[in-house]
Amino acid sequence: MSGLRLGIFDSGLGGLSVARAVLEGCPSASIIYFADTAHVPYGDRPLEEVRTFALEITGFLASQGAGAVLMACNMSSACALEEARQVYPGLPVSGVVQAGARAAVREGADAIAVLATAGTVASGGYVRAVHAIAPDVRVEQVACPEFVPLIEAGELDGPRVERAAAAYLERALDSGARVVILGCTHYPFLLPVLRRLAPAGTVFVDPAEEAADEALRAVAGHLDTRTPSRFILSAPSATFRPVGSRFLGSTLPALELAEWAAEDGRLRLMMTGADAALCDAAPGEV
Ligand code: DGL
Repeated sequence: MSGLRLGIFDSGLGGLSVARAVLEGCPSASIIYFADTAHVPYGDRPLEEVRTFALEITGFLASQGAGAVLMACNMSSACALEEARQVYPGLPVSGVVQAGARAAVREGADAIAVLATAGTVASGGYVRAVHAIAPDVRVEQVACPEFVPLIEAGELDGPRVERAAAAYLERALDSGARVVILGCTHYPFLLPVLRRLAPAGTVFVDPAEEAADEALRAVAGHLDTRTPSRFILSAPSATFRPVGSRFLGSTLPALELAEWAAEDGRLRLMMTGADAALCDAAPGEV
């Protein structure tokens, strides 16, 4: 195995928090990032549906040249990681939930709060992952349904974000926990607000760094560092480029478009050819 490109996916912008950590760990890493903007948000969808998306996206990224895949989506990691490893043997696939649990348990607290989507909360993935390493630690999960739509719309601060963040944080901290896992890869976008509102001593755990380290270790010595990275969306998004570029700290290259289509009763992803103009359309033009 040599010249591996790393596939990274999420429902939308959130996985860029993980892509950023990968690029901090290896600035020249060649990544193929897929955002399922046709289906974002995943949070309120049934786990079975998200599992179907995640398995198809994993195979799609491999077909596009990814030699390893990092599920930069907690919901996908919680409901599809094991199955993806079985369906694609030989393809190193990693996720973010176990990484987040490991990083949080290292803080040594006896209670951990998890802010996550309703789907990740329903999956119980973090409870299992924390208890697998620290059975006595109390885990309090708080579903935060308002966050992802606000972030995808590029609203990262202001009264609506503050109201939602204050309510979710209150529930999380009422449990007595002072260690809070950002159990959705979108939430690091809101860290400035969350830090402002949380009492001193609150520790926010972003699983991204641990997950990126794990994925980079799996391909160590084999990572393609020459081919330019690609960013593929499954539906046009007016916010992906500006918000994503701001968050990644560098201008994203032309965005490409892949579309979902039903084929033989199965949902498949197919490239439509580069369509940067469509993907970069301003609000109202899409
Ligand atoms: N960012 C994803 C996660 O970590 C999905 C969020 C969503 O689309 O609801 O779970």
